[in-house]
Amino acid sequence: MTGSPRGLRERLVTELRATGTLHDDRVAAALADVPRHKFLPGIDLGRAYSDDAVVTKVDADGRPISSSSQPAIMALMLEQLGVQPGHRVLEIGAGTGYNAALLAHLAGAAGEVTTVDLDDDIVAAAREHLAACGFGGVRVVQADGGHGWPPCAPYDRIILTVGAWDIAPAWVSQLSPRGRLVLPLALRAGIQYSIAFEHAAGRLDSVSVLPCGFMRLRGAFAGPETVVPLGSRTGVLAESEPRPADAEDLESLLTRPGRAVSTGVRVTFMDLYGGLGLWLAAREPGLGRLSAFGVAGPAPCAGAPDPAAAARRPGMGMVASAHGCAALTAMSDPGDEGRAGLRTAFEIGACPFGAEGTELAARLAGHVRDWDLAGRPSLAGLRVSAYPAGAGPPGEQRATVIDKQHTRLVLAWPDAGLSPG
Ligand SMILES: C[S@@+](CC[C@H](N)C(=O)[O-])C[C@H]1O[C@@H](n2cnc3c(N)ncnc32)[C@H](O)[C@@H]1O
Repeated sequence: MTGSPRGLRERLVTELRATGTLHDDRVAAALADVPRHKFLPGIDLGRAYSDDAVVTKVDADGRPISSSSQPAIMALMLEQLGVQPGHRVLEIGAGTGYNAALLAHLAGAAGEVTTVDLDDDIVAAAREHLAACGFGGVRVVQADGGHGWPPCAPYDRIILTVGAWDIAPAWVSQLSPRGRLVLPLALRAGIQYSIAFEHAAGRLDSVSVLPCGFMRLRGAFAGPETVVPLGSRTGVLAESEPRPADAEDLESLLTRPGRAVSTGVRVTFMDLYGGLGLWLAAREPGLGRLSAFGVAGPAPCAGAPDPAAAARRPGMGMVASAHGCAALTAMSDPGDEGRAGLRTAFEIGACPFGAEGTELAARLAGHVRDWDLAGRPSLAGLRVSAYPAGAGPPGEQRATVIDKQHTRLVLAWPDAGLSPG
C-alpha cells in the first residue's frame, strides 16, 4: 500500500464507513487526524493503516498480551462510548496509547483523559508516543486497572480496551451518576460482547451490545477461564470455565468422534456469532470453546457429510465433562466463511466424543432446538443488566442469570417479552 499517512488514514475511514462500521463524524475525524503509525514504531505504513490489530508484546509462551486493537472495533466502541467535549475519561489498557489519543481528540482541550496499563514498559512507550503526537496532556498511569484510578474519579466515561470476565466494583463506583461504561465482557467460555452500560436503580443496564474479541485482563481481576493448548493438534485451544477434562484426555477424546446428532435447525455463521452463540453462553454453565487455526481440529464426526466443515468450524459451542465432550458441527457444507458465506444457511448438529459424549451431544442439540423455538433471540433487543453479586431478580429468571464474583448478569429480550428461562 502506498500513499501519505494522511491519505492512508482517510482511505481507512472511507472503508470503515463503507462497511457500515463507522457512522459518527467526530469519531471519523479523530481516526483521520491521529497518526496511528506513530504509535506503532517499526511497523510499515500499510500495516499501520490496515483494519487489523497489531500485536506489540507477547508473554513467555508467545501469547499476545498487548496490541493496538483492530480499528473497526475501536471505532465501534468509541461510538458506543459517546465521548463529548469536556468529558473526564478513564481508559483501562493503555497499550500503545493510540486509543487514548483518539479519546483525547474527542474530549477536546476542556476534557481530561487518564489511561492505565499494568506494565512499566508499556506505560513508558505509550507516554512517549502520546507526547510525540501532541497528546502530552493525557495522564498515563502504571496500575492494575481492576482498581480503576481513584485519584481522578468520578469519570463521565470509562472504557476497557482489554477483555474482562467480571465488572470490577471500582468501575461502577468511579463512574459518575450519568456516566457510561463500555467494556468487552465475557459471558462464558471467553465469548465476549462489548457492552455499554449506564446506571439504573441499583444496577447497570446495557444501552448497546456488540460482538467483539479482546485479549484478557491480567492482574487481580483476571477471570478464571482456562485456555488449554491441545498438544499435538497444533493450534487447537480448548477454553472453558470450569477447566475441562485434562488437556491430554480432551485431545485424545477429540480423535474418537461418535455419530453426529442432528437438530433439524439451519443456521448461518451470523446466527452462530450473534444468536446461537449468545444463547449457549447464557444457558449452558458447562460451555467451552474449541478454537482451531489452519487445518487442525477434532476428527470429523460420522454423519456430518462434509468432514472438512467439521474441521473448519468446530466447537463454537462445546460442553465437556471428565469423560466426554460434545461440540457443534456443521451437518451440511457451510461454504466459505467469507463475507457472503456469513449468510449461507447450513444444518447444525452436535458431535459426541467419549463415553459421556452422547448425553452431552443431546444436551447441546436441545439448546439449539430451544433457541430455535424461542424465536432465535439474537443481540438485537438484548438487554444485559448487571446487579451487585447476590442481588437481582430471583427464582424464575435463573436461567438467564450468569453469576460472576462481583456481579450478577441478567440477560433479557424485553421487547420480545422473552426472558429465556
Ligand atoms: C489490546 S491492548 C490495549 C490497546 C490500546 N488501547 C491501544 O490503543 O493501543 C490491552 C492492554 O491491556 C493491558 N492490561 C491487561 N490487564 C490490565 C490490567 N489489569 N490493568 C491495566 N491494563 C491491563 C495490557 O497490558 C495491554 O496493553
